[in-house]
Amino acid sequence: MNKLIIGNFKMNTTPKEFKEYSIALATKCKGTKNDVVVCPPFTHLSVAKEILSGSNVEYGAQNICEEEKGAFTGEVSAKMIKDLGASYVIVGHSERRAKFKETDRLINKKIKTALANGLKVILCVGENLQTRESKQAAIFVRKQLDDDLKGMYENELEGVVIAYEPVWAIGTGKFATKKDITKMVEVIRKEIENQFSAKAAQSINVLYGGSVNISNYKNIISNEAINGALIGGASLNVDNFSVIARENY
Ligand code: 13P
Repeated sequence: MNKLIIGNFKMNTTPKEFKEYSIALATKCKGTKNDVVVCPPFTHLSVAKEILSGSNVEYGAQNICEEEKGAFTGEVSAKMIKDLGASYVIVGHSERRAKFKETDRLINKKIKTALANGLKVILCVGENLQTRESKQAAIFVRKQLDDDLKGMYENELEGVVIAYEPVWAIGTGKFATKKDITKMVEVIRKEIENQFSAKAAQSINVLYGGSVNISNYKNIISNEAINGALIGGASLNVDNFSVIARENY
């Protein structure tokens, strides 16, 4: 089964390091049937354009400003990213929600801005440990989806990928079981069906993210309930990431 494998570099590597990484990744990913995407920091996107254009590795940003342009010192717009050839942007990552206090309302605005500028959105949702332990994870994720996708049309959803990233599994070495993932993906698809349609629920790509690495990736990604994975730490090693990207699932 063809999968979507996305690397999220977070705030790691320099543009120079990324250049070497990209040259290696493009070479190693030649001929892979999976869709491969890397999301480095903004400062690396011109390098991505230089090295990855014409390869079968796509690239994206990790964030955008919800506004189109103007007096927003320090922000980066969707149009700027698009102009550098990015196809994707990650929106609503739990680190942005928790550390930069991004609300669902803001995330909803960012999604709309990204789509209006022709970017595909990787929307991250997922519960923290406390919510999970109090058995509220499904309710919590449903509410995130409800708020984040508010006011959107079904045809716009074609540009959205959902990444289920339980916060307790991010960077911790703990990862969700196949049963946990399958159950939550069902919840996500059901919510999309309620908000949009059964067709939308079936066709939307849902990924898993959280401590996917070179030792556990096969078991996790081969799960037919998911369409791929969003990989943080393990994507920084080009040998490991390309093994994951080249696998026949
Ligand atoms: P890790 O793979 O490092 O746990 O990070 C997951 C993640 O946050 C990807 O967006």
